[in-house]
Amino acid sequence: MFLKPCTLLAIESSCDETSASVLKDGKILSNIIATQIIHEQYGGVVPELASREHQKNIVPVVDAAIKAAGIDLDSLDAVGFTRGPGLLGALLVGSSFAKSMAWAKKIPLIEVQHIQAHVLAHFIGEEKPSFPFLCLTVSGGHTQIVLVKDYLVMEILGETQDDAVGEAFDKTAKIMGLPYPGGALIDKYAKEGNPLRFGFPVVEMPLLNFSFSGIKTAFLNFLNNNQIKNSNFVQENLADICASVQHTLLQILIKKLKKAVKQTNIKQIAIAGGVSANSGLRSLLREEGEKNNWKVFIPALEYCTDNAAMIAITAYFKYQKEMFVSQNTSPLPRMEWE
Ligand code: KG4
Ligand code: ZN
Repeated sequence: MFLKPCTLLAIESSCDETSASVLKDGKILSNIIATQIIHEQYGGVVPELASREHQKNIVPVVDAAIKAAGIDLDSLDAVGFTRGPGLLGALLVGSSFAKSMAWAKKIPLIEVQHIQAHVLAHFIGEEKPSFPFLCLTVSGGHTQIVLVKDYLVMEILGETQDDAVGEAFDKTAKIMGLPYPGGALIDKYAKEGNPLRFGFPVVEMPLLNFSFSGIKTAFLNFLNNNQIKNSNFVQENLADICASVQHTLLQILIKKLKKAVKQTNIKQIAIAGGVSANSGLRSLLREEGEKNNWKVFIPALEYCTDNAAMIAITAYFKYQKEMFVSQNTSPLPRMEWE
């Protein structure tokens, strides 16, 4: 397929990462990410603080992305931005910046759906999946099994009916007193622990859907019961607790993924989103891939959690089809697929 050459700037500001990326002819030249650590002390993202941090960060982050790419602003052909889903105030900062830049440079504006971008991050690297493939998209806000038919043609085969798996990681971490976001910390401590030491009840969901909200209640009860007997229960058993929680969550994901493979007979499997950075999930997917003869696609760590490079690659595919939007485009906190 012939792809039109172009140089794009992309902005991501849907949650607590301010990120800017420059792409030239399908190659990422820079991907600058400023993670907002201010939320750590509150145990979760505070929307108003996120907006203010984006406002502080957006100019220096874009500036750094342009400099790192070694391009001139006048060489930009279009600006891409995350339109949703995400926090309204946070999205407003990125979209307003993108619109101003597009207006000032008289270049087209391209809206991007954040979750679609997580999936398309697989087209940044050298090894790209071919169509169709399945993508398990696991982030702080979403848990979906997506059938990817083409760059911009995707179908959700199943998804969570309540919490996202990233939320389940973060909430169990918070219950243990770990700072936000706790997913990466559970991953770290789990490496030293016994995943089969503790068991947690799992709700069986129909079809390819998920449910994770019951886990946090079960986990809270489990900790309370054990802390009555031993007030140092968490400190003394941290690694085993983390390994067991992680094991429970990953088994739910893998079980549904296997069901999706059986149902579709598609054996190219990708993972995407913040939780795809989880080392347990990455190795489990590789193992299952070998066992079941799947071709697996695991994103580079830089492209798992929120980043503007994935927005840039999505904008690149939309640029090809001239899918441009007007200056009147406002953020959509609950944006769906097109
Ligand atoms: O994709 P992402 O950066 O933001 C959203 O779009 O939500 O995902 C953030 C989520 C958080 O819940 C975070 O705890 C989780 O990804 N996460 C991890 C790991 N790294 C990030 N969860 C488990 N293990 C990790 N290593
Ligand atoms: Zn995300």
